[in-house]
Amino acid sequence: MKAEEAKHKIIELSAQINKHNLLYYNQSNPVISDYDFDMLLEELIRLEHEFPEFRFADSPTQRVGGSISKSFDQHIHQNPMLSLGNTYSKEELVEFDQRVKKFAQVDQVDYVCELKYDGVAISLIYKNGVLDKAVTRGDGVKGDVVTNNIKTIRTIPLRIKSDAVPEELELRGEVLFPKDAFLKLNAAREELGEAPFANPRNAASGTIKMQDSSIVAKRPLECFLYYVISAEKEFESHYQSLEYAKTLGFNIPNTMAIYQNIDGIFEFIQDWAKAKENLNFEIDGVVIKVNDFALQKRLGFTAKSPRWAIAYKFKAERVETRLISVDFQVGRTGAITPVANLEPVQLAGTTVKRASLHNADIIEQLDIRLNDLVYVEKGGEIIPKIVGVNREARNAESKPFTYIERCPECGALLTRNEGEANHYCPNQLSCPPQIKGRIEHFISRKAMNIDSLGEGKVELLFDNGLVKKLSDLFQLKHDDLLGLEKTFVSDDGLTSKTMSLREKSVENILAGIEKSKQMPFPKVLYALGIRYVGETTAKKLAKHFKSMDQLQKASFEALIDVDEIGDKIAESVLAYFADDRTVDELALLKEAGLHFELLEDENADSAILNGKSFVVSGVFEKLSRNEIKELIEKNGGRNVGSISAKTDYVLAGANMGPAKLKKAEALHIPILSEDEFINMITT
Ligand code: IVH
Repeated sequence: MKAEEAKHKIIELSAQINKHNLLYYNQSNPVISDYDFDMLLEELIRLEHEFPEFRFADSPTQRVGGSISKSFDQHIHQNPMLSLGNTYSKEELVEFDQRVKKFAQVDQVDYVCELKYDGVAISLIYKNGVLDKAVTRGDGVKGDVVTNNIKTIRTIPLRIKSDAVPEELELRGEVLFPKDAFLKLNAAREELGEAPFANPRNAASGTIKMQDSSIVAKRPLECFLYYVISAEKEFESHYQSLEYAKTLGFNIPNTMAIYQNIDGIFEFIQDWAKAKENLNFEIDGVVIKVNDFALQKRLGFTAKSPRWAIAYKFKAERVETRLISVDFQVGRTGAITPVANLEPVQLAGTTVKRASLHNADIIEQLDIRLNDLVYVEKGGEIIPKIVGVNREARNAESKPFTYIERCPECGALLTRNEGEANHYCPNQLSCPPQIKGRIEHFISRKAMNIDSLGEGKVELLFDNGLVKKLSDLFQLKHDDLLGLEKTFVSDDGLTSKTMSLREKSVENILAGIEKSKQMPFPKVLYALGIRYVGETTAKKLAKHFKSMDQLQKASFEALIDVDEIGDKIAESVLAYFADDRTVDELALLKEAGLHFELLEDENADSAILNGKSFVVSGVFEKLSRNEIKELIEKNGGRNVGSISAKTDYVLAGANMGPAKLKKAEALHIPILSEDEFINMITT
């Protein structure tokens, strides 16, 4: 393709993709399938690789990330990013209003009320209408340049829609992590044994500082804008400037309102104090700003904050109640979580009886003791949290809390790895909640999908001593199950439900277990619940090693050689197979008939590349790097991350690093071009 033609095509594809993005994200009205959309994007990515001179800063390919930043450049803010004065009372709001009026020598001032978004501040700098830089607040004077990460946020225009854009335009706003996505992200992290984020704000700030923008692209960040700074464009008022930004395509929430008096403002505040629960993002107050820019200018700034604005912060609803006792919960991975049992108390519309105490450090920092009167808040508006102790009310005889040393469920001595906050019960194979958790994971939908065995039934089987390990499931007999009974009592002890297994459910359970034997090897591997081996990792390992035997024999080096497998996962896999009891258990599962090998048809379209390992590097013309990697696997080959003497081929595209090339040459590894590779699999 000629350059001119490519440029044309790139522009056309970009326009098409932008249109579909808008239909999908802004109007929730997609008109093409996700697959067709991905195909357009793939084509654009391919053309931009081939003609990097036409990879424009506002290209929609920037939304999917892919850049890696070792560290972030710093940018000095043209205007420092200040904070706002805070208040928690109506009286102080009245004083603020009086100060402004006195200064302006007027009787009435227009104020704009906006929500105070509880996220991470960001400054967006546009040059000639194209997003040039996105910078964090940092210390207020200079911040980190996180443009590639911010470009993944769909509601931030990469190019402004207008013919008359100022040469330079800066907008400020807040990046937020939606509440529902936050809960999902944390659940996924806990599933993998990773520390959850404390609240959506931390999730947002952790995400925009990530090094790999393609991971950022998978998290649904939001951005609301609340401040326009433009040297060239003069507005009369703040409200007008935001209305202008809205016409340029910026995400300006329509929750703002103008008031002339404190009573109106206070009503706005009280309405939102209630309605905030219904928002899918967090707010921690309301910001009140003088609308008139001329007056703003005259009022100016103190060293820390503008005199023309103030933040009214919602008081975190806080109540006092007594700590009755502390329970220790043992999770599927053996992590111990202390949970406080509280005298029931009303908080933000719900009755709170329990609150997480997180870990031993938190208990020590707060110096919480049994029988203390403690303060409870809705932390991050989602989960109740103990924030302090009423020391004055403390009983003189009370003693510091001593953390447990042994597992409350199985009595094993707890361990705590250096640098980790949690204690763990190391008794993975015989600690009841760990066994039950492992079985629940094994039968779950994404694993062996035995849906005839819900959570209650696992408990029933465990309590009756029928299932103590995964392989026991496959030994269950009709007569063992028929007539089993268990009564479940509700948390408050007021209601109970008896489950008893009759003929029909017994048949369903046995049929579900039998059917699960057809699950392919990657699912089986995931179902085992090896720490840090989630669904994707299980697929990668299964494809690479092809059988449980091969995986079991793999060394640390062989493991980290697999594409995208790092030290942490490799160590966890090694530790898993190092336990003799695991090995015995695996033998039983194999005997039961589970798939411990990839089947031919999952494995490959052909066996042309059987046993061959490839390192793919650089940029290709006809296929994307991912397509090439898929083709290698489909034809029976393996992708490895780095070149070693054992590598069979290096597939070199444009821009492959010279060091890699040298290494391949030194080791006499054949270097293939894209065409040679395509020939190899098609002839
Ligand atoms: S205006 C010069 N408006 O609150 C003042 N800030 O403590 C510019 N924030 O760093 C800030 N919602 O991150 C403004 N509607 C809003 C806001 C808002 C949240 C944050 C912002 C700022 C902090 C001030």
